[in-house]
Amino acid sequence: QAPEAVSPTGSPTGAPATARAQSGQYLTTAQGLRLGDTDHSLKAGSRGPILLQDHHLREKITHFDHERIPERVVHARGAGAHGVFRSYGTASNITRAGFLAKDVETPVFVRFSTVLGSRGSADTVRDTRGFSTKFYTDEGTYDLVGNNIPVFFIQDGIKFPDIVHAAKPHPDREIPQAQSAHDTFWDFVSLHTEAQAHTMWNMSDRGIPRSFRTMEGFGVHTFRFVNAEGRTTLVKFHWKPKQGVHSLVWEEAQIINGMDPDFHRRDLADAIEAGAFPEWELGVQTFPDTEDQMFEGIDLLDPTKFVPEELAPVQPIGIMTLNANPTNYFAETEQVAFHPGHLVPGIDVTNDPLLQVRLFSYLDTQISRLGGPNFAQIPINRPQAPVNDMLRDGMHQQAVHGGAAPYRPNSLDGGCPFLAGQDVGAFIDVPEELAASIKERKNPASFDDHFSQARLFFRSLSPVERDHVIQAYTFELGKCYEKSIRERQLAALANVDAELCAAVAKGLGLPAPEATEQVADSEPSPALSQMGGTWPVA
Ligand code: HEM
Repeated sequence: QAPEAVSPTGSPTGAPATARAQSGQYLTTAQGLRLGDTDHSLKAGSRGPILLQDHHLREKITHFDHERIPERVVHARGAGAHGVFRSYGTASNITRAGFLAKDVETPVFVRFSTVLGSRGSADTVRDTRGFSTKFYTDEGTYDLVGNNIPVFFIQDGIKFPDIVHAAKPHPDREIPQAQSAHDTFWDFVSLHTEAQAHTMWNMSDRGIPRSFRTMEGFGVHTFRFVNAEGRTTLVKFHWKPKQGVHSLVWEEAQIINGMDPDFHRRDLADAIEAGAFPEWELGVQTFPDTEDQMFEGIDLLDPTKFVPEELAPVQPIGIMTLNANPTNYFAETEQVAFHPGHLVPGIDVTNDPLLQVRLFSYLDTQISRLGGPNFAQIPINRPQAPVNDMLRDGMHQQAVHGGAAPYRPNSLDGGCPFLAGQDVGAFIDVPEELAASIKERKNPASFDDHFSQARLFFRSLSPVERDHVIQAYTFELGKCYEKSIRERQLAALANVDAELCAAVAKGLGLPAPEATEQVADSEPSPALSQMGGTWPVA
């Protein structure tokens, strides 16, 4: 049983859980003892050494000494906001998720983030942005932990530590912009060419958004909806900002980084405080849940691929409004714990090998980041659905559990006669026939195409946007010390688009290599017109 119910979302739906703390007529210790003096420590005489007896000093200093917790291993810098999600009900034929039924309102907490920078880093760096949403539904908490780019660097989660180690600052100097850090990043993406599509999005204007309010969001992976009859549909999630999609240009981004490193954080908080509540429509692309899980030649389990909207339109299923700033950054934005495995009946995962590793990673990291296994009891993480788990004890346990013993079936304590498989409202893992008969460490052949989607994206851009991509590659690769790495990345670009490769090679003063893989001689694709062509560049 959860501790005393308080609104997990704080301001919009009720008093924040912290309202009782640090208020009142008298200053006290943590034990409620009224204090007469908090400005002077207890000394032997007025000049003498401080006495160990000073219990107030020791409490004050000891607590201060432990104020910091580890920052997130990635996505350390973020900004959050409360809001509400209202469902249109348009997906209720394909999912039984209660919060997606018609006109249901669900409180949400959203955290936007950069990926690589530390907690005190600047906002307008060139990077991917996180876009995580916690829906406090009646059926349990559902987390949609997405990014502002629809594809990811790697296909298999076992490589996540590698890409993060390659992209974070070098261990010797810890300087993010050092040449060594550019070398390791470009070394990785030129050797692991599956990263080329994501890198292209990073080098585009999408890598330097104008505001969190003007970013799209993507679930990236393919998920599975399950309806009341048990029928399944594969889906990809999209957030579309009502504010439009806008970016900075590189010179603006650099100047802002110096002049106002909190630019995005301030922009979000100011807009909400002014009553200009940002809104996003949630939509899904839907695909038949076929045996091969392919759609128009695209493997839906490959997270380095997206499905162009011309092939599968995004269908709106609800709208989210962010309408309140956090009361306390640490309590809410820092302690919030998202996890792609926080699911509700009607939404399930797929066998995407990146998603499968994420299902392990988030709970694991949060046990160390938030100091033990009971972080679901922290106010921002408390579900709004009733909780009756069998978890006991552990660090920072706040509940006083009663009952005979936490095991089921249980004939002694009377409450909740749990019968496996009898609860129609319960989450049911989608039954799936598995074909594999051998275990092996390899990807399906359908994951092998590493260049066509980077090409599709590049060719969908307007001339100005293409120019920005060329400038970004030239600038970033120009920071790369090792010539062999620059050459290897040019070889990858040759497989994407000859014009792009030649322009970047010219900027770097290197010869443009020939493509080694067959490049389709197609016209600029209209397939991404909604992504590349129509959004204004600030
Ligand atoms: C945060 C791991 C892929 C989006 C994190 C964190 C870890 C992690 C350990 C820190 C969580 C915390 O301390 O609370 C991984 C692994 C991945 C992976 C192992 C690949 C196997 C992805 C992908 C996306 C993504 C594909 C986007 C679709 C995010 C976001 C956050 C995050 C948005 C920040 C959540 C927040 O605001 O608190 N990830 N990640 N990650 N990840 Fe991933």
